[in-house]
Amino acid sequence: MQNIDEIGKQLITQIAGSDSPRDVLKAPELKQLYGVIKTLPSGQRAVYGKRINELKIALESAVNARESELESATVESLDITAPWDVNSGPQNLLLTENGSQHPLTKEIENVSDIFTRMGFEVIESRQIDDDHHMFGTLNFPDNHPARDGYDTFRTEEGFIAPAHTSTMQNRILQDGKKKLESGGQIGVVAIGRCFRNEDLDATHEHTFHQCEGVFVSETATLGQMLGTLRSFFEAYYGQSLNIRTQPSYFPFVEPGLEFAIEKPASLGGSSKDKEWLEMLGCGMIHPNVLIAAGIDPKKYRGFAWGGGIERLVMLKYGIEDIRHFESGKLQFLREFA
Ligand code: DAH
Repeated sequence: MQNIDEIGKQLITQIAGSDSPRDVLKAPELKQLYGVIKTLPSGQRAVYGKRINELKIALESAVNARESELESATVESLDITAPWDVNSGPQNLLLTENGSQHPLTKEIENVSDIFTRMGFEVIESRQIDDDHHMFGTLNFPDNHPARDGYDTFRTEEGFIAPAHTSTMQNRILQDGKKKLESGGQIGVVAIGRCFRNEDLDATHEHTFHQCEGVFVSETATLGQMLGTLRSFFEAYYGQSLNIRTQPSYFPFVEPGLEFAIEKPASLGGSSKDKEWLEMLGCGMIHPNVLIAAGIDPKKYRGFAWGGGIERLVMLKYGIEDIRHFESGKLQFLREFA
């Protein structure tokens, strides 16, 4: 038995320094060790055989380790398909065949379903846009300071990574004009990525998602808008909610409002200290925005709203930091798998 240990140690040292480690397995000392089995009395064979097997396994893994060491020393190309050190043993990773939907994807589907059931058409917003749609068609006068509030990323060619989904409003209005003229109404929700060049913290991320709603008819009212938004939030959180609005300024609506819900007890709200959570901006579409799309503001009126998707989801699941969403951290993603 002692012999096995000694020979084993020697061979492992040899393997670790060899350029052709597999050849070491052909060593005559090993053959001798295997041969001993036959010569042993049957009572000892099992124990000896077990030790030999353990030795074989140890040698095999020493050979594998040395082979990959040699391989990585000679292969210079980078294997971008291997996300971890292949020699460091099994990792606690998601298997590719068990991948899961990102929590935002799931929740965006959820939001889309609710608006679809309410009769809205749901579209995806663009991820590259221009000054005309980001500001011009939305009644931001040239050089108006409100433009600075959006911290927009711009390309050298003058394109804009949209800082809000309101960039879709003019397109929605233009596309829907015919419907209005034939006696119908426009009801569209645009959901997608937005980007802002601002300092990052637990509630600010450079990349995030918004949901924009646009409704136009001959008779649209602020009351309909509040009813629509309340119904949406109650459907999303599965309970009745208290809502509150306060005046706010956005160049593309008049009047403009901030829409808040009271934090419900089931999501950590306290009945003593009311907590109002501002969820989105909204208002009656400014006549200039309708005119920019060729719609007569004397004949038609509309309402619009826009708000962050992450904020909705963070409240629903008690997520404390918006940066988790873009982090790619498996620990976070697994909680929603
Ligand atoms: N686009 C605004 C923002 O991101 C939010 C907003 C406010 C959208 C009022 C609207 C609206 O459609 O009517 O700050």
